[in-house]
Amino acid sequence: DLLSQIERLEELFVVPTEKLKEITDHFAKELTKGLTVEGGTIPMNPTWCMGFPDGNETGTFLALDMGGTNLRVCEVTLTEEKGEFDIIQSKYKMPEELKTGTADELWNYVADCLEQFVEYHHENEKLDQLPLGFTFSYPATQDYIDHGVLQRWTKGFDIDGVEGKDVVPPFEAALAARGLPIKLTALVNDTTGTLIASAYTDTAMKVGCIFGTGCNAAYMENCGSIPKLAHMNLDPNLPMAINCEYGAFDNEHVVLPRTPFDIIIDKESPRPGQQAFEKMIAGLYLGEIFRLVLLDLHTQTECTIFVDQDVSKLKKAYSLDAGFLAAIEEDPFENLSETEDLFKNTLGILAKKPELELIRRLAELIGTRAARLSACGVAAIAKKKGWEEFHVGADGSVFNKYPHFKLRGAQALKEILDWPESKGKGKNDPIEILPAEDGSGVGAALIAALTLKRVQDGN
Ligand code: BG6
Ligand code: GLC
Repeated sequence: DLLSQIERLEELFVVPTEKLKEITDHFAKELTKGLTVEGGTIPMNPTWCMGFPDGNETGTFLALDMGGTNLRVCEVTLTEEKGEFDIIQSKYKMPEELKTGTADELWNYVADCLEQFVEYHHENEKLDQLPLGFTFSYPATQDYIDHGVLQRWTKGFDIDGVEGKDVVPPFEAALAARGLPIKLTALVNDTTGTLIASAYTDTAMKVGCIFGTGCNAAYMENCGSIPKLAHMNLDPNLPMAINCEYGAFDNEHVVLPRTPFDIIIDKESPRPGQQAFEKMIAGLYLGEIFRLVLLDLHTQTECTIFVDQDVSKLKKAYSLDAGFLAAIEEDPFENLSETEDLFKNTLGILAKKPELELIRRLAELIGTRAARLSACGVAAIAKKKGWEEFHVGADGSVFNKYPHFKLRGAQALKEILDWPESKGKGKNDPIEILPAEDGSGVGAALIAALTLKRVQDGN
């Protein structure tokens, strides 16, 4: 019956305190390993973003944000007023076909958006070269800040001929073909941008996190603690932001409690074996995990849900997004009438009362697991660095929109780090995760400004 099914799902998806602690301990070790010469599974990419802004940065910068859902162009003016800025921006849709199209299509589209932006905001102006901070939110190997070799696509992107190559030359070629007066100054990850933008207004910020289509974090390390850069003889006290790319945590599957559904997600993805942690918690996958569970319950020999219903719509991969799950969790009615409507209107399925209860519980289980596992990443950085009290700047659709995500994450941090009973509520916790400043606009501009200053100072 459905009650025993719910119990089975709870066994699969609930992550108890002890497991969270075990994951965090292993995670902290893997972060350290990623910084060694031999390396580990977590890339721990040096970003060449060296230090925080001091508020005296000035100038006008373009920022381009190529995330999973939107493409955004911003013009950020850092004013003489310490820590203040003006921003104008335009948003463009990132067409779905582009994510699996060709490299030429991608770079042409991105350059077209920039061209439109410049034409619209600077019509008939004679422009000097505008420095650009390009937020490219995928793992990249950087030997310096204005280049980056794509390690692999993540978040469902699958464009041939880009992995293993520097993404900057083809991007610049597309700009040059349009005669755009733009000079790429810094290639940044969204987490690094988030870290820098957040620290600009709050010096307690030590970690920048994204909980969105993907999940990842950046923090500041001293060069002396990055053995894989030892051969460069950098000043050991120089700070360097590390883009962890910790969505790749536990790709070897030693500690994460994967369910059969997580295994299917991985197998069917364009990059099986990659981003094990991310695939259990990030927005791109939450609705898909949910769909796979429901479909499994329906197709079991002893079919327990949606008996005699047409489930053809439910059979379509990735047809449900995290927003669908969020809406179920937000249904305010005891009889779950909004969920009932959602199933009727989106999937053509008439769900009965006990089925609706299972649906709600399943959404809760998946959403709670995501928040609790997400907390392990933050706790792991805290453990690795020995930091006990600090702020985390967070951005992304899951953090900003998914119901209870923040509170569930705070509760998990409390369990992992043994905080007293009064903590774990989010506000005034020793580690507080706060909504970030716009990292991909302001952060990218600040990093571009810091880079230009470093070049001018001859460092
Ligand atoms: C946006 C940032 O706010 O959040 C992007 O501008 C970032 O740089 C994004 O990639 C992450 O959230 P999502 O949900 O769009 O993946
Ligand atoms: C994926 C990307 C990473 C990005 C994160 C959040 O994990 O690999 O670069 O920071 O998603 O957008």
